[in-house]
Amino acid sequence: MAKSVKLNTGAEMPIVGLGTWKSPPGKVTEAVKAAIAAGYRHIDGAFVYQNETEVGEGINAMVKDGVVKREELFVVSKLWCTFHEKALVKGACQKTLSDLRLDFLDLFLMHLPMGFQAGSELFPLDSEGLAITDGTNFLDTWEAMEELVDAGLVKAIGISNFNKDQIETLLNKPGLKYKPVTNQIECHPYLTQEKLISYCQSKGISVTAYSPLGSPDRPWAKPDDPSVLDDPNIKAIAQKYKKTSAQVLIRFQVQRNVIVIPKSITPQRIQENFQVFDFELTKEEMKIILGFNRSWRACTMHWGVKHKDYPFNTEF
Ligand SMILES: NC(=O)c1ccc[n+]([C@@H]2O[C@H](COP(=O)([O-])OP(=O)(O)OC[C@H]3O[C@@H](n4cnc5c(N)ncnc54)[C@H](OP(=O)(O)O)[C@@H]3O)[C@@H](O)[C@H]2O)c1
Repeated sequence: MAKSVKLNTGAEMPIVGLGTWKSPPGKVTEAVKAAIAAGYRHIDGAFVYQNETEVGEGINAMVKDGVVKREELFVVSKLWCTFHEKALVKGACQKTLSDLRLDFLDLFLMHLPMGFQAGSELFPLDSEGLAITDGTNFLDTWEAMEELVDAGLVKAIGISNFNKDQIETLLNKPGLKYKPVTNQIECHPYLTQEKLISYCQSKGISVTAYSPLGSPDRPWAKPDDPSVLDDPNIKAIAQKYKKTSAQVLIRFQVQRNVIVIPKSITPQRIQENFQVFDFELTKEEMKIILGFNRSWRACTMHWGVKHKDYPFNTEF
């Protein structure tokens, strides 16, 4: 049986979802359809992936064909950094909804705690290649996101790429109306995130693991970078269960009650990545996998390093 995680709103979020970053517009509609046909009920998208129209086509086709009802799906999108000014948040959400051709999102995340200069550039960079701030405070952006819940545009709101101090700042915000339901962060055996996961879960905030396979198709990958999918120790565990490395990497998150969103545009892999509910890693294997941590990030968001709200220069 596919599992879900109960959010602090009471809603259930399917524990395995389909990632869509880097999924080309010409491929993602079929990927979404293949995922829903395989049993996925959770799709992870974002405005900045520049494919939401095509993601929506896949969702709407499956609803129209009667394969799934809209209420059975859990659709996630994210507020991009150039829309952090309070006055821009609602329009950004409405743009995503109109691209997806949906009336509401199940979850809208603040993609990063960093606000960037508003405008048509998704990555407004200075002469050093560093992101130009818009001077906003993510607490104000959060207030505008809370209004989306009240307006019925989104069922829940959450955060992504927030570190512990930033979450604490948000939770201590005077007049906080809605707590984030999830923090979507990079997580795999080379970045196990034990401290941040345990902090989030202790505060009633679920965790969603992005790049669970180590994001091998990230555009800046170098040949010498570590590869979790090729890790011989992961392969050995996979062999024991007659499973693939990808399935072990996904199962590893499921067993920690961490929601996980592997991306694929390959129908056979989309199916494979969902076949993770028929085996169980032992406690010992879970511990061994946690021991592979090397605090390695696939997504360092290097253009943000000098931003006042860059999240990755604290311990966790
Ligand atoms: N919040 C954020 O800042 C943030 C950042 C990064 C990612 N995300 C989200 O998380 C999702 C997943 O992360 P990701 O896209 O970085 O990387 P990922 O899911 O770790 O890896 C995707 C890559 O793995 C390949 N793959 C998928 N299944 C496989 C299998 N069973 N065997 C072998 N290879 C397989 C895919 O190839 P094919 O597609 O060619 O099959 C693709 O190249 C994203 O798509 C996005 O939705 C969010």
